[in-house]
Amino acid sequence: MTVRQLHLLGSPVLRKRAQAVPQVDDAVRRLVDDLFETMRAAKGVGLAAPQVGVSQRVAVVDVGEEFPPPLVLINPRIVEASGEPEVAEEGCLSIPEIFGEVDRSPSVALEALDREGKPYRVVVTGFKARAVQHEIDHLDGILFLDRLSAVKRGLLLAKWKKLRKGTTGYLKEVTPQPAGEL
Ligand code: NI
Repeated sequence: MTVRQLHLLGSPVLRKRAQAVPQVDDAVRRLVDDLFETMRAAKGVGLAAPQVGVSQRVAVVDVGEEFPPPLVLINPRIVEASGEPEVAEEGCLSIPEIFGEVDRSPSVALEALDREGKPYRVVVTGFKARAVQHEIDHLDGILFLDRLSAVKRGLLLAKWKKLRKGTTGYLKEVTPQPAGEL
């Protein structure tokens, strides 16, 4: 498994609609494994393939619970969203240090393929439902900033520009934390 470079806001791949995976083969499984490895190294709870520069409909979610196990989302599709939208703070590994309050459905039923290419359907709720919606947005070229009011988005983009001052390019190396760190 490899920790891959992260693509940051400004990288065009984050704005493309990702391609459906025609067949879950070893290359796709390697991508899934690398997404988990990169997400964990970056201390995230979800990661989508476009964030490592791969425009394919693949994402992973691990919000840290033991059951159900971490989700592998290949060609995921939300088939039903229910409940009144709830607002909570979100961030994104592609927009470090920027956070905003986003409305999301508290419960979604989704269909996807797993790491073996087997179709499954699952209902996720709460924080996990939020993470799934955030990752599926990535596959459609949508970032959480797009779901904020124009005023809030403008403020956060100004902050982002300030943070990025003096840096060039849109790639970030992920440096895993030393093992055993609390
Ligand atoms: Ni994100």
